[in-house]
Order: sequence, then C-alpha cells, then structure tokens
Amino acid sequence: MRGVLVEKVGGPEVLEFKTDLPVPKPGAGEVLVKNELAGLNYIDTYFRTGLYPSKKPEILGKEGYGTIVSLGSDEKPLQGLSVGDKVVWMGGSGYAEYTAAPALHTYKIPDGLDGKLALASFLQGLTALSLIREAHPVKAGEYVLVHAAAGGVGLLLCQMLKATGAHVIATASSREKLDLAKKNGAEFLINYSEEKDLVAKVLEITPGGQGVDVVFDGVGKSTFEDDLLMVKRKGSLVSFGNASGAVPPFAISRLTAKNLRLLRPTLFNYITTREEFTTYTKELFQFILDGKLDIKIHDTYPLEDIRRVHEDLEARKTTGKVLIKI
Ligand SMILES: NC(=O)c1ccc[n+]([C@@H]2O[C@H](COP(=O)([O-])OP(=O)(O)OC[C@H]3O[C@@H](n4cnc5c(N)ncnc54)[C@H](OP(=O)(O)O)[C@@H]3O)[C@@H](O)[C@H]2O)c1
Repeated sequence: MRGVLVEKVGGPEVLEFKTDLPVPKPGAGEVLVKNELAGLNYIDTYFRTGLYPSKKPEILGKEGYGTIVSLGSDEKPLQGLSVGDKVVWMGGSGYAEYTAAPALHTYKIPDGLDGKLALASFLQGLTALSLIREAHPVKAGEYVLVHAAAGGVGLLLCQMLKATGAHVIATASSREKLDLAKKNGAEFLINYSEEKDLVAKVLEITPGGQGVDVVFDGVGKSTFEDDLLMVKRKGSLVSFGNASGAVPPFAISRLTAKNLRLLRPTLFNYITTREEFTTYTKELFQFILDGKLDIKIHDTYPLEDIRRVHEDLEARKTTGKVLIKI
C-alpha cells in the first residue's frame, strides 16, 4: 500500500513516501480502515523528531477518515461497527492507505455530517472540548488566555470559549492570524511575536489587573514562564503542548506564590473509555450539525507532499486544520 514511513528521527526529510508497504492485519479490538484522509496534528512532529520517543520504523498520523473494510479477529461486532461504515478513527499510523484502527476510538459518521469536516474537527475538537470541560471547567465571565489561537486547537478553543460566555484573549504571531482568531470568537488580540511586554498587556486587560482565570498553552517552552505571571491567584495553567519546545523541569514550590493549579493533560486520558470517547464525539459532531462550530480547513495536501506538510506546520504557515489526501 501507499504510505509514509519514518525509519529514524529527524527533520521532515526522514518522511519517506512509499508504495510497497504491507497492508496491516487488524488484531483483536481493531478494525481495518481504508483511509481517504488523514489529519495532521502537531504531535506528529514530536514523534518525527524524537521529542516523544516511539519505536521506529513507524508510520505517523493520529487520526483518519475512511471506510471499514474488515473487522479484527474478534468474533463479535466491535462497538457496533460494521464493514462498509464510513468512520473517523483515532490511534496511530494514519499516513497510509490502510490503518488497523482501535475500534474503541473509531466512530461512525452521523447522517448529514460530511466526513471531511468530521475529521477536520475530530482530534483537535475533542482536545479543546476536554480542556474546557475537565482541565479547567470554564465558566461564563472568566478571562481565558489562548496561545497560538489561530492554530487547529486554538480556533476551536476560541469558538467553544466564546459560546461558554468567557472573555478570550488570543495570542498569535501575525495580524492575519489574530484577525482569524477574532472571527472565531476572540475578544482581545495580542501579537506575541511583536509585543514587548506580554505580561503587562494581559494583566491590563483583566479586571483589577489580577490576571486570567486560566491559560491554555500549547506553545510550551517560549510562553510558560510568562504564563505563571499572567494567571491570577487560584487560577489554572493548562500546559497541553510543546510547539516551541518542551517546558523545562519545574519546581512545584513555585505554585505557592498564587496557589496556582498546573495541569499537563493529554486528550487520550480524557477519552480512555468508550463512554467518555462517544460522549465527547457525539457532542462535538452535534455542534457542527447544529451550525454552532465552524471548521476552518487550511488545506488538503496530497500524501506524496508529506515533507512540505510538516515544513509548513513547523514554519507556522498554517491556520486551523491541515488534512492529507491519501
Ligand atoms: N495534550 C493533548 O492532548 C493535545 C492534543 C492536541 C494538540 N495538542 C497540542 O496543542 C498544540 C497545538 O496543536 P495543533 O495541532 O492545533 O497545532 P497548531 O496550533 O495548528 O500549530 C502550532 C502553532 O504553534 C504556534 N507556535 C508558537 N511557537 C512556535 C514555534 N517555535 N514553532 C512552531 N509553531 C509555534 C504557531 O502559531 P503562531 O504562529 O500564531 O505562534 C503554530 O501555528 C500543540 O502543542 C500540540 O502538541 C495537545
């Protein structure tokens, strides 16, 4: 089958487009999906560079959309899934024609929902939803700082937070990106590449200059220290990614200065059970069906262009969701 193999860690050049990869055999608890699209996520770059260790050779890609072509070795139908179903799935090895996907994290596309939109909203949408529901349950009227607000997770956070009645302060590296964040619900805009004193600017926006109730930070290394200064007493710092590099080791005693909550969550630990996964996914897709969530697709690149896809993502050229046509 066609697919992209990574045999060693490195830059985009280690992504090798192949046409002779073996079709995987679905095991117990898996379904074989013939993919039409794969979703790009920043985490794919962490596995490519080795920031997150994984066994190589490896096919990257955490999510896809396609059709179930066979069930795994289980005798019973898995999670109500059948051959021929159009599904989105979350797991591994998505940059390929076929994926043996975990049935537990495979979801049949509801009637009326376009598969491309379903995938474009999927992993990043569930991330945004679980962050605002569980990492820090956001309440109406709260001030919320969203870094990289024009990114895949960022734009969805802006929309969901706005719908919750929160005041969104968005950061991004360009005027165009900030305009997009505004269209998606951000109320205050800061270009963190140009702003000399980000902390002062954010404090100025918040009531009494006390800081924000919560920071959602997928940028990591370059923003973390400022985050500690921008969160108010008893507020939350939710660090959920490392687009600028990993946050260095941190002494927890520093949290006592303002009794801060510090979280480092990952989506997969919020959707570990089938019930958790389906509850969030059903809600996410219903938002789209009801016209309450606008999904911005930056571009759909052909699989053969996979190196350019990673280059563009890491060069901060993309906004919203990036898809890969298999
Ligand atoms: N914990 C979880 O379960 C989970 C799940 C999904 C995603 N994430 C994390 O959420 C973050 C966003 O993911 P995404 O897939 O939606 O990506 P994305 O936000 O679409 O892309 C990353 C963005 O980060 C910003 N950035 C800041 N410093 C950067 C740097 N030095 N190099 C590259 N980009 C930089 C860029 O926006 P500007 O140009 O505006 O700065 C860039 O567009 C990532 O850290 C990802 O790992 C975590």
